[in-house]
Amino acid sequence: MKTYIVKDYDEMSKKAASILAAQIVADPESVLGLATGSTPVGTYRYLRKWHEEGVLDFSGICTMNLDEYRGISKENSQSYYHFMVENLFSHVNIKRENTYIPDGTRKDSGAVCREYEDLIQRKGGIDLQLLGIGRNGHIGFNEPSDCFTEKSHCVSLARSTMEANKRFFEKAEDVPKEAYTMGIGTIMSAEKILLLVCGSDKAEAMYQTICGPITPEVPATVLRLHKNVIMIADEAAMSKVKSE
Ligand code: PGA
Repeated sequence: MKTYIVKDYDEMSKKAASILAAQIVADPESVLGLATGSTPVGTYRYLRKWHEEGVLDFSGICTMNLDEYRGISKENSQSYYHFMVENLFSHVNIKRENTYIPDGTRKDSGAVCREYEDLIQRKGGIDLQLLGIGRNGHIGFNEPSDCFTEKSHCVSLARSTMEANKRFFEKAEDVPKEAYTMGIGTIMSAEKILLLVCGSDKAEAMYQTICGPITPEVPATVLRLHKNVIMIADEAAMSKVKSE
């Protein structure tokens, strides 16, 4: 795992955006795996800026998002689709038909997940997958478990994840309990992975990811088995790793 330790969120975001931009310039028809949450917001801000400045062209880019809440429609302001539109898609010249996120309103979870996997295959696989990490070490919505999941699937969210997501919802009972997510195998099939970690609340997850045993109880630990991972972490996220 190639690791960059940066000062703060802005430095992390700029570096991550540079890596994504390099991918887009090198292969204007790249398939990018994208992530939601607080972590990549700054990265998307830089990508938008560079697009506005005429440096980045998204017209040939295809995106596949990691996950989506089950039971929430695209129009819902809490959906990950909505997040992507607000933070990136509506600001760049990507073709909306080339942006893919599992449809949270569909109840036939088996078919939703199978079709998503088939789609990734048909697109030739993911060239560069952007990832954040949960406080419990989850990646996508692959929660701590006793086995690594292979393919896209429907998950029940961990209590700690629902707790962390509460901040985005008006009422605690509105927080979705299930989601569709790429599996660990799907993520590990990406050609390159870009992992972003920021803040002291991720320090324990970071410590486990780097120094702990590789275990599905901390899903991000599996990334140590991937041949091409770049991690950008700020000093606060690395505080526990450095002090050991
Ligand atoms: P965050 O979430 O970026 O909002 O911290 C990351 C994650 O849960 O994967």
